[in-house]
Amino acid sequence: MQRTKVKDLLTGAEAGKEVLLKGWVRTKRGNKFVSFIAVNDGSTINNLQVVADAEKFSEETLKDVTTGAAIAVTGELVASQGKGQAYEIQASSIEVLGKADPETYPLQKKAHSLEFLREIAHLRFRTNTFGAVFRVRNSLAFAVHRFFNEKGFVYMHTPIVTASDAEGAGETFRVTTLDLDNLPRTEDGNINFEEDFFGKSTNLTVSGQLEGELAAMAFSDIYTFGPTFRAENSNTTRHLAEFWMIEPEMAFYDLKMNADLAEEFIKYIIRYALDNNREDIEFLGQRLIEEDKAKPQNERQEMTLLDKLEFVVNNDFERITYTDAIDILMNSNHYKKKKFQYDLSWGADLHSEHERYLVEKHFKKPVIVTDYPKDIKAFYMRVNDDNKTVAAMDILAPGIGEIVGGSQREERLDILIERMKGVGIHEEDLWWYLDTRRFGGCPHAGFGLGFERMVQFVTGMGNIRDVIPFPRTPQNAEF
Ligand code: 4AD
Ligand code: MG
Repeated sequence: MQRTKVKDLLTGAEAGKEVLLKGWVRTKRGNKFVSFIAVNDGSTINNLQVVADAEKFSEETLKDVTTGAAIAVTGELVASQGKGQAYEIQASSIEVLGKADPETYPLQKKAHSLEFLREIAHLRFRTNTFGAVFRVRNSLAFAVHRFFNEKGFVYMHTPIVTASDAEGAGETFRVTTLDLDNLPRTEDGNINFEEDFFGKSTNLTVSGQLEGELAAMAFSDIYTFGPTFRAENSNTTRHLAEFWMIEPEMAFYDLKMNADLAEEFIKYIIRYALDNNREDIEFLGQRLIEEDKAKPQNERQEMTLLDKLEFVVNNDFERITYTDAIDILMNSNHYKKKKFQYDLSWGADLHSEHERYLVEKHFKKPVIVTDYPKDIKAFYMRVNDDNKTVAAMDILAPGIGEIVGGSQREERLDILIERMKGVGIHEEDLWWYLDTRRFGGCPHAGFGLGFERMVQFVTGMGNIRDVIPFPRTPQNAEF
């Protein structure tokens, strides 16, 4: 007999038939006549109710059917009399495939805190919240590929181990085969990387962008979607040491076209999740409403999660320059009352508190900020005619802050080399990158979307560690 997943059983297509269900017990309750067993197999947030009559199943035979146990059930799929579900299974056989000792199984019927579940990340997939989060994550990932493939972009795999630090921020994890306890030295006492596997100093990639640019100079439109690594010691709810990034790169695009694509892309993947994961998002929205009850009125969400997402996909993002953003911020009452922790002036980088003020208090929608001062942005961004700003863009999202960083790229070889010199990057180290400007270079642009921040936005989860299956943060890489 073939197994049917809960999601398909709940459509009722097999009503009146004998079915086979396999999954994990969420709860068991009942009385001396009958037991009700809620089974989940991960295909949907919903459980399927199994009805076990006491005549057929004594308490003794059901003693191992406890929360967390894996079971196989056969029986007739029937319309349910009870509230809460349309169909249930009238069990004719129940087999326990794997027990879960109630004395030691950490997940019990009661609601557990996210902090506790983070400590048992190997089991937290089995909760409603994490089931919903990771089904949404899966849909968003699928939608990323669908969006770009529909547009004729080529998915490009860029290296994980590389000698380049694309962002030039010095936040790389080094990769080496050298014996750390006995490092080989050159005559002048430096570490001798010539003895390393690669014959030079390498690190985990911080971004696939530079390699993506090489491919865009042949395929026109490409995207990457892979893990990236940053050794920034930021213990925040928005930073991970290992996160996934989507980086499209397009030949013959300027900044405006880049921003248009990013906006269309974000709306597309949110729409896809809304259409395919409505129940999960509804459940996660309900979580937030419960959470809000413990908060003072002025800190509560103004919209439900579903309404917020519908609003974002149906309205234009705001577009302003960095200079406008500084004006708005410095003229705000918030600034005048000295409520920002970090000071502001033209030329300073925006902090998360400033970004969130713009999106949450001022515009109340996503904002694309363009044309940042060149001194606070990466060397590869195209210098504007004013020679003070670059054709950069950040997209800021309510509740998150920066979700996308991108730019038009500097295609003029001489200016690019000048910019590299300014930040101490040697021409010899990026000779391959500079070749794209030497041979058939053209105006081009791209951006990077932090995938986990996007998942946070769609699921409403407050901590980035709760939207990646196995978070890598400082002091945390056990499994
Ligand atoms: O702004 P970033 O550093 O830009 C780049 O890496 C460019 N190479 C992208 C490009 O133009 N192709 O990072 C892009 C996005 C950020 O906006 C943020 O959403 C996310 O990546 N991000 C992080 N997400 C989680 N943890 C971290 N430590 C992150 N650092 C950046
Ligand atoms: Mg950035």
